[in-house]
Amino acid sequence: MPVIELEQVSHVYGSGPAARRVLDDVTLRAGEQRIGVVGANGSGKSTFARLLNGLVLPTSGTVRVAGHDTRRDGRAVRRRVGFCFTDPDAQIVMPTVAEDVAFGLRRRGLAKAEVAARVDAALATYGLTDHADHPAHLLSGGQKQLLALASVLVTEPELLVMDEPTTLLDLRNARMVADAVAALPQQVVLVTHHLDLLDGFDRVLVFDAGRLVCDDVPDVALTHYTSLVG
Ligand SMILES: Nc1ncnc2c1ncn2[C@@H]1O[C@H](COP(=O)(O)OP(=O)(O)O)[C@@H](O)[C@H]1O
Ligand SMILES: [Mg+2]
Repeated sequence: MPVIELEQVSHVYGSGPAARRVLDDVTLRAGEQRIGVVGANGSGKSTFARLLNGLVLPTSGTVRVAGHDTRRDGRAVRRRVGFCFTDPDAQIVMPTVAEDVAFGLRRRGLAKAEVAARVDAALATYGLTDHADHPAHLLSGGQKQLLALASVLVTEPELLVMDEPTTLLDLRNARMVADAVAALPQQVVLVTHHLDLLDGFDRVLVFDAGRLVCDDVPDVALTHYTSLVG
């Protein structure tokens, strides 16, 4: 598994009187397969998640994934780190299901047959084969999230960062996505408010007002988180 390293990372949005520090001196080294991230709204979880694929660059400090600095070597980082957003509609870019999955493979220089084979395999994995030529907007919320997942995974990232992928879904769809995530062989960083998704995780990070206040096994970390809320 790639190692994620944050060294004295702080992040500030805006400048001058509008400046807002949302991450404060976060240092972390993690190479586990399953890493959960929890915290209240506004605690800095999404900013943390976006730092991992270089979508956000730290105001100070350094972020490295598998030894690649997100600031100096953004391309290498983005090739290794896939990202799933809360709202799959923000991520689905092509008209049909199969075209959307294939989109991720553009500019890879793959032969047409190779692209088709990879797309077929990804669709089959997520039960989307019968929807291959359907407009993506006809899918259920859960199927859309699985499509977003398929479109990212077809690029074979080593690390998948997911920012509340089940928050907008009903229970049934959330379960579907949770099962898919649980089956992934990759390293996963999962930001979630659905704490049951973190059962069996290796490590859980708790953010509070931009600080990493607890970093432990799920039992300990979630007890800490619950005590913050209580
Ligand atoms: N692009 C942005 N510009 C300015 N402020 C932002 C931006 N993104 C997030 N924030 C603010 O930073 C804080 C932390 O946000 P975020 O990392 O999204 O936390 P979380 O995901 O835990 O809710 C929030 O107060 C939010 O309003
Ligand atoms: Mg968020």
